[in-house]
This record gives sequence, structure tokens and C-alpha cells, in this order.
Amino acid sequence: MYTEKVMDHFSNPRNMGEIENASGVGTVGNAKCGDIMRMYLDIDENGVIKDCKFKTFGCGAAVATSSMATELVKGKTVQEALQVTNKTVMEALDGLPPVKVHCSLLAEEAIHAALWDYAEKNNIKIEGLSKPKEDIHEEEKEPEY
Ligand code: FES
Repeated sequence: MYTEKVMDHFSNPRNMGEIENASGVGTVGNAKCGDIMRMYLDIDENGVIKDCKFKTFGCGAAVATSSMATELVKGKTVQEALQVTNKTVMEALDGLPPVKVHCSLLAEEAIHAALWDYAEKNNIKIEGLSKPKEDIHEEEKEPEY
């Protein structure tokens, strides 16, 4: 049911934990499954993501997608990180079963929420970023397969 990459990131999650005094922190959840994901970003003065960590209280796919998402945004600029969608995360994991697509949406939205927090703290506007919702599920946002 799950790809090897999903199992790998679930069994050995990368970048699990938190960042003290993070540049941005974003927490999102899905009220239906009750899963919660929190992303921490450390962003330098050039707008480059130096570090990214996550904490996920959720299913295995949520752990795997958060882990992969942290790897994908590390080293990227804020603008580049915005292009990391749930589709990008799923592709990097070689796919997810359809019932688990919403887990990857949590990863995308948690990054957006952390970027939003960073923008608010620094009084800047990030082109293309809108205020993230706290409750994420497919009905509100069409998943891209
Ligand atoms: Fe809801 Fe995975 S079952 S995040």
C-alpha cells in the first residue's frame, strides 16, 4: 500500500523536532482525522531557509510527508519553498494512496503557515502567499494528483 520511500520517511523521519526562536512557526490540523502538524523554519537575512523541523501528531503518512517536506524546503528561498506543493511532496515519496492525499496537504499548508508567520513577524509580504487555514481538508482545496 505504501511506497518504500513513504515507509523510509515514516520509520526514519528527517528533521523531527523543533527550532528554538524559529523565524516562522506554522501549525495546521485536520478536524476530521484529528491530526496536527507543526513546522518550524529558520530563515536567514537573504530569505534562504537554513533549517526546517517538524512535529506531527498524526498518521504515518503525515509523518512521512512532513519529513519529506522539510527536506524539500531546506536550502530553498522563501519563494522557491512556496512552489513545494502537496503534489511535489507526493511525487518525491513516489505517491500516496488516495485516502492519504489530505496528509500531504497538511504538509504543504504547514509550510505556508510557517512562511506566513515569518512574513508577519518581519512585516513583509510574500508574493503568492495567502493566509493559511487552520483546518485543512480536501473539500476546501482540490488535491492535485
Ligand atoms: Fe489525517 Fe493522515 S489521516 S493526516
